[in-house]
Amino acid sequence: MMNSRSCICVSAMKPYCRFLISFRSSSISGFSPPSSAKLLNSSKLQCRKIDSRSIRSGTQCRRIVLDRKAFCDSDSISWGGGSRVLRARVSIGRGRGRGRERGVLVIPRVASDFRNHSTSSLGSHVNSDQSFESIFVKPLVFKELEKTEEIPKKESGKGGEDAKSGNVGVRSEKEQVLSQSEAEKEAWKLLRGAVVNYCGFPVGTVAANDPGDKQTLNYDQVFIRDFVPSAYAFLLDGEGEIVRNFLLHTLQLQSWEKTVDCHSPGPGLMPASFKVKPVPLEGNDGSFEEVLDADFGESAIGRVSPVDSGLWWIILLRAYGKLTGDYTLQERIDVQTGIKLILKLCLADGFDMFPTLLVTDGSCMIDRRMGIHGHPLEIQALFYSALRCAREMLNVNDGTKNLVAAVNNRLSALSFHIREYYWVDIKKINEIYRYNTEEYSADATNKFNIYPDQIPSWLVGWIPNQGGYFIGNLQPAHMDFRFFTLGNLWAVISSLGNQEQNEGVMTLIEEKWGDLVANMPLKICFPALEQDEWRIITGSDPKNTPWSYHNGGSWPTLLWQFTLACIKVGKLELAKKAVAVAEKRLKEDEWPEYYDTRSGRFVGKQSRLYQTWTIAGFLASKKLIEQPEKASLLFWQEDYQLLETCVCGLSKSSARKNKCSRFTPPRS
Ligand code: GLC
Repeated sequence: MMNSRSCICVSAMKPYCRFLISFRSSSISGFSPPSSAKLLNSSKLQCRKIDSRSIRSGTQCRRIVLDRKAFCDSDSISWGGGSRVLRARVSIGRGRGRGRERGVLVIPRVASDFRNHSTSSLGSHVNSDQSFESIFVKPLVFKELEKTEEIPKKESGKGGEDAKSGNVGVRSEKEQVLSQSEAEKEAWKLLRGAVVNYCGFPVGTVAANDPGDKQTLNYDQVFIRDFVPSAYAFLLDGEGEIVRNFLLHTLQLQSWEKTVDCHSPGPGLMPASFKVKPVPLEGNDGSFEEVLDADFGESAIGRVSPVDSGLWWIILLRAYGKLTGDYTLQERIDVQTGIKLILKLCLADGFDMFPTLLVTDGSCMIDRRMGIHGHPLEIQALFYSALRCAREMLNVNDGTKNLVAAVNNRLSALSFHIREYYWVDIKKINEIYRYNTEEYSADATNKFNIYPDQIPSWLVGWIPNQGGYFIGNLQPAHMDFRFFTLGNLWAVISSLGNQEQNEGVMTLIEEKWGDLVANMPLKICFPALEQDEWRIITGSDPKNTPWSYHNGGSWPTLLWQFTLACIKVGKLELAKKAVAVAEKRLKEDEWPEYYDTRSGRFVGKQSRLYQTWTIAGFLASKKLIEQPEKASLLFWQEDYQLLETCVCGLSKSSARKNKCSRFTPPRS
């Protein structure tokens, strides 16, 4: 059993290298926290700089990277009093105290038999797996790096194995720059200017670089979800280092335990954002150390938990492999452990009756109250995508085969559930309009007891004859009929929907261009909540007034995901049309975060300018349009094997008898 007490300890080995570590005591590992461990209520990763003026020159700034694989392989570890420690000596080659032994890192050795303990006894219900406890504390080792590890070099736009098969890289870099529009040139400059370094190495991009911003809030941080379009733009431009660094550093942050009012979320939680903070060293001689300070939602407005961060991390990890051909990253034991921890958190059994993830309001891109608590489509689509990625990347062995089975079962159940219950088109709405209610039985048609009066008046006139979409949320007696763009796009990209549905979503966007694109792609959701609905559902949020921000605002960052979905369904021209709409205004408007009004005519009233994911989303779209063959590495087709799997384990004939809803006869 896990001992729930946990803490963060700082190596007492002063003065040159400190590292903050979180650990839990575990009877499996036999580890208990050292009495001298200093307890801190913070989660920080530190890298000490001796001289602020020589960040890259010389060797004063050392990056210290956790290498869990090496830890597993290492035998030279001991911990005073029966526990085990790793001692890593760090010496500084230049400057003060040159040649002296600079520091000793002390790390509890836990889960040392990680490979044996990993997911060996995982069933389709991951909660039953006691062995997962052993990876609660990740095996860690510090490896000092002078420079970033070797990754495949940029070859005039070529990616790795997979990318090469797409016959890319035919245009030279010079040709590419020459063909760039002024907007693109400026965007690349701004994107590179948004790069955040940690000890001299690029690890992410800042959310916004608005020079006129008087209240930065947390827009000076690297957000996990915001970095994704930056990463895609860099990767599609043949640049992998920053993405690799980002993936590894955020993985380290996952190791840290966070507490909000004495309660800790699961250890697989990835932060919403992090910041590189310079911290002056004692002595006031200008020396400082850099600290990676993560926010898991405990500082965020509304204290929202970033459920999407871990899902995005997995999605990005796969994209990195696909576009660089560097699969060594995803094969590393620490990275495999990171994937498992995220899956553990998502696949944990709860009270839920449905395969969809139950989350609080604000747990994704819409990170304020907008009435999306429960089973919002955005999270379900990212969850499905992340599961598909994880299934491709997990090393399958005796230790993981049950986890892989659990992933497969969930994929199958999730796609069935969403395809069946979230999909609406004119035919389905017509059906809901005539639903019987209060059906008490296992074979009810109206399983969620939806009252037909719930069909909103806007929808009756809005739903086109062609196409359809996945609704925003489904709860008992409640269908949220709003159209949420990100969730629908990822349903298409990941083939969460079936082929007809995926094409139907893109048809609907085309049909409803005036509502969903108009003057700026794309509406975050449609329509806006107004009057009483706005007051009750948003809590009278002045930032989310009708047709602004999350409440029906237009977000140019959604463009890259739209482009990917368009390419998938063979509508490249539609993507080009949307990019052209954006390109006309973004540079002139100084790259706003979002636009207001029903048709997206005005720059958002509280919108940041020079918002990085606006810039990156535009660039990633341009790159995808230039190289649609690379796009095909980033989406999924239908998996027919999954369709065969009935989670109930019942065959078609017995399922009918046993009321497996999957096999209920199609609606007439
Ligand atoms: C806002 C957005 C969120 C984004 C953050 C940083 O809070 O709602 O999705 O990650 O800004 O840009």
